[in-house]
Amino acid sequence: MPKPSALQAIRFEPPGTLTVLDQLLLPYDETLVPVTGIDDGHRVIKAMQVRGAPAIAIVAILSLVVDIHARPERWATASELLVYITEATHYLETSRPTAVNLFEATKRLRDTLASTIHVHPNLSVSELCQRVLEFGEAMLARDLSDNQRIGALGATWIQEQAPHRAPECKPEVPNASVQPRSPSTPATWRILTHCNTGALATAGWGTALGIARSLFQQVGEQLHVYCTETRPYMQGSRLTAYELVHDKIPATLITDSMAAALLASRTTNAIVVGADRVAANGDTANKIGTYQLAVVAHHHNVPFMVAAPWTSIDLTTPSGADIPIEERPSDEMVTAKGRVVPHTSSLHTELPADARVRLAAPGIATWNPAFDITPAHLISAIVTERGVITKSDSQATFDLAGSHARL
Ligand code: MRU
Repeated sequence: MPKPSALQAIRFEPPGTLTVLDQLLLPYDETLVPVTGIDDGHRVIKAMQVRGAPAIAIVAILSLVVDIHARPERWATASELLVYITEATHYLETSRPTAVNLFEATKRLRDTLASTIHVHPNLSVSELCQRVLEFGEAMLARDLSDNQRIGALGATWIQEQAPHRAPECKPEVPNASVQPRSPSTPATWRILTHCNTGALATAGWGTALGIARSLFQQVGEQLHVYCTETRPYMQGSRLTAYELVHDKIPATLITDSMAAALLASRTTNAIVVGADRVAANGDTANKIGTYQLAVVAHHHNVPFMVAAPWTSIDLTTPSGADIPIEERPSDEMVTAKGRVVPHTSSLHTELPADARVRLAAPGIATWNPAFDITPAHLISAIVTERGVITKSDSQATFDLAGSHARL
């Protein structure tokens, strides 16, 4: 079993100490932010100091754990505490709307505690606090083991399925050179990923980036990962690139606009992305720009994989049209945060190190959706910890309710 990457975005010391690695400051500064209660939890999620669907859900629940453990004397009975937990979880749900993992976790916690109190009506406040702590700790452990399973399944699927398809990819632009492998040359595995789905977005290892990690463990330097910048928030160039460099996985950064050229000119085995919510028919909400990558993959006959824990699958949402898409502030799109490099000494004297730089003409209107919907017909496989779900090319959608019953 692969070892978890040492990178850890969420640091929890039971029962009451929680800090998160501030992802607004990465990759320049590794600063830990304390989370002492639900207000901190809501704030770090909304501001995207912690982000990524599984990490959002885990931090929301752990912020509640540290909140109630700080002053349990606020409640006379377990039922009173349950009322507080119900309100607190609804409040935490208002932080970000698209990733379903948050809503799955809060609902599951409420349901679990309500049935616990039903079965044990004399439960004390401290016993209920303990149940919430166990729930949070189980989430952390489960997410890590799910990701390691997703990584192993996804890496195997790519090696078994993707080589048969990649050489079929033909150059689509004049003079683009495609060099299909001959059976005698050692395989070079090229995968393209988008946004950040790694240890920073989860309890550890990652989903789509976890597949890259698992594949790297199996094929070593024969793997090459391409990662997009992921405009406008730059999760690719700031966070995924940071993780790839950290784990010494051979990798190249491209801008979002280079993906079609990459697939046209270099045999790419698969595009692997994460998910914020997968509807019952397989339509998938993920970071803005995912949809255009799926279109490009389809055009070039490159397998397009979605990797996500089962907690990202929302069987109550029939299709992508029903998924709420978060819109982020214009400021996150028309300004960029960077670090002044020493060579630009003239800038150095004029700008504070963490200045935001304006990129767009003042006065221009903006539209800044954080996610888009990739229709199921463009998705080759959905990799979950329960198994790899596929459909034939002639099928337009997945039957995830059927998979739920089967897997
Ligand atoms: O806005 P973000 O950074 O929270 O968006 C993250 C993504 O879109 C990820 O691909 C998704 O949450 C999966 S993370 C394992």
